[in-house]
Amino acid sequence: MAKYEFGQHILDTQKPDVDAIAAILSDDTVDGALFAAANDVKTREYGNLVFVRGIIEFSNHCRCICAYCGINAHMDKVTRYRMSADELVDAAVDAAKVYRTVILQSGEDMYYTADMLADIVARIKARANCTVTLSIGERTLAEYKLIREAGADRFLLKHETADAALYQSLHGVPLENRLQAQRTLKALGFELGGGFMVGLPGQTDEILARDLLTLKEEGVEMAGIGPFIAHPDTNIGKAKDGDAHKTLKVLAIARLLLPRCHLPSTTALNVKGGMRDALLCGANVIMQKATPFAFRKLYDIYPGRDAQDVPLGVQFEELEQRLSELGLKAE
Ligand code: 5AD
Repeated sequence: MAKYEFGQHILDTQKPDVDAIAAILSDDTVDGALFAAANDVKTREYGNLVFVRGIIEFSNHCRCICAYCGINAHMDKVTRYRMSADELVDAAVDAAKVYRTVILQSGEDMYYTADMLADIVARIKARANCTVTLSIGERTLAEYKLIREAGADRFLLKHETADAALYQSLHGVPLENRLQAQRTLKALGFELGGGFMVGLPGQTDEILARDLLTLKEEGVEMAGIGPFIAHPDTNIGKAKDGDAHKTLKVLAIARLLLPRCHLPSTTALNVKGGMRDALLCGANVIMQKATPFAFRKLYDIYPGRDAQDVPLGVQFEELEQRLSELGLKAE
């Protein structure tokens, strides 16, 4: 376990300190050294490989009222859609021809019972040789268990912000529920993907430091860290967007604290033009849309998301090309 010195700040990855991390985040004179150190660790752990995953957004119905999210239950301008189980299984099997990992994401849509989701996962696993990740929000232990026993490998459930008061004000429910759900997932043997947003209204560098420590405490195997992007139709639609540069700094520190953690260049960061930089300061994963074209524009959680109708194989090859220009290799 390493100790890093950035200017006058010390980052002890064994015993990380909130104040030291916050100080690094607010001091831009150390960025060159920070990014280089993160890239070194990423290269040591994963060489020049970038893991590319396909994500299918299968329903934009949601019971939650997360203040930042463009598909929250209060958004009445949204055209809602749901893929049928057959459509979803077929889309996942197609995606698995291009991607080794397929992520099934939706709003918290209780139309899909745990039995239905378990059946969907089992059918995908029977037809395709891929890792299946779910990103469907909070469910009970019994529901998660069914889905896990059906063969789901991984689960993405971000803590979004580690500040209990900020979490409560944005979600209307306690942070503790989310952390408990993460612990349940881990106990069931899912590989856990966590993560949070950077630049939420009211967030400070000290909160971001606690976000990073939360990833370590919860033992996440993956973490999605992306800038907040204001969705104009939401109650916080006029707030300032999160800063891409700050997001890169947070990502770089995450790589130092969690050397083996899978860290995507998140879609939100890519919207801000940050993909190349992210891949050079710690990120080792990219997620590409594998949602059927008809639904892409409707999964409007924040503006600027790439909803272009490029066939999956072509999309993957274009990314391979971009990565090879950076000396990186798509896996
Ligand atoms: N800006 C940035 N990220 C967002 N997410 C949801 N809404 C926004 C937004 N307005 C992220 C959350 C969620 C993931 C699916 O998308 O972190 O976990």
